[in-house]
Amino acid sequence: MMPDLAYVNGEIMPIEKAVVPIEDRGYQFGDGVYEFVASYEGELFLLEEHLDRLERSMRELAYEPISRSAIKTAILELSKASGYKRAGIYIQISRGVAPRDHTYSKGMPPQIIMTIRPVKELPQEMRERGATAITVEDMRWGRCDTKTVQLLANSLAKQKAKDSGCNDAIFVSDQGIVREGTSSNLFIVSDGTLSTHPLTPNILPGITRMAVLNICKETGLKVEETFFDKTALYAADEAFLTGTVTEILPIVGIDGKTIGDGKVGPIARRLYDLLREKALG
Ligand code: PDD
Repeated sequence: MMPDLAYVNGEIMPIEKAVVPIEDRGYQFGDGVYEFVASYEGELFLLEEHLDRLERSMRELAYEPISRSAIKTAILELSKASGYKRAGIYIQISRGVAPRDHTYSKGMPPQIIMTIRPVKELPQEMRERGATAITVEDMRWGRCDTKTVQLLANSLAKQKAKDSGCNDAIFVSDQGIVREGTSSNLFIVSDGTLSTHPLTPNILPGITRMAVLNICKETGLKVEETFFDKTALYAADEAFLTGTVTEILPIVGIDGKTIGDGKVGPIARRLYDLLREKALG
């Protein structure tokens, strides 16, 4: 069997062999950005959109630029080397390696690492019955629109959900605004209209979120990018999370309250089918 592979600054190797310098700023300061891209039947879905976002994250943090085509070539090379048809590629770029210092000197060459593994699919049963979530206070920093590797708040929130017997956590601001999941965006459906948090510095501009908005436009589903609170969330007819691995995951219970009739709703189901159709070409 092929081993899962890693790519470290130009070299492909089995994951267990891959190491990074201990003074990589990604490791010491969380000074790194990332993407997670999935392939379907060997094709990387929405790769250009992921590259756009990666470039934007790097720009926002004033990293030295890396050529987009070099990153793309490396991703395609790794995908080909693995032979996986349904893979998840994790791409991480850190500002660079330097003796530990809060400030950094300009011109540092960014470090790029990647890993590739078969996608860890969500259990079919969870997709059919719907998932459950808790809400948690959003304790992340103020630039969640950049996809940085600072995921401690996300990780702790998802662990809290798991420890309380739920599948995921949804971040809510101290003003009561419902934002997004720990690794996904959130939509609700009320009286046939979809709502999702607008693009602000407080949420990630999800690629799947964008794909869902496009599908809504194409199919005439009414959708609004608008703020909503927990009352609207609990009262929704449907709620679902969107993300690269999550795809479209219906949420049927939140904080112990039943959403809609507690079953996977027709809009989430339809959008899931349409998204899969796009992904499978
Ligand atoms: N997470 N919001 C957050 C906070 C995320 O971490 C993610 C993705 C999303 C959905 O974005 P997209 O549709 O582009 O995957 C929203 C990735 C998958 C991860 O952390 O592994």
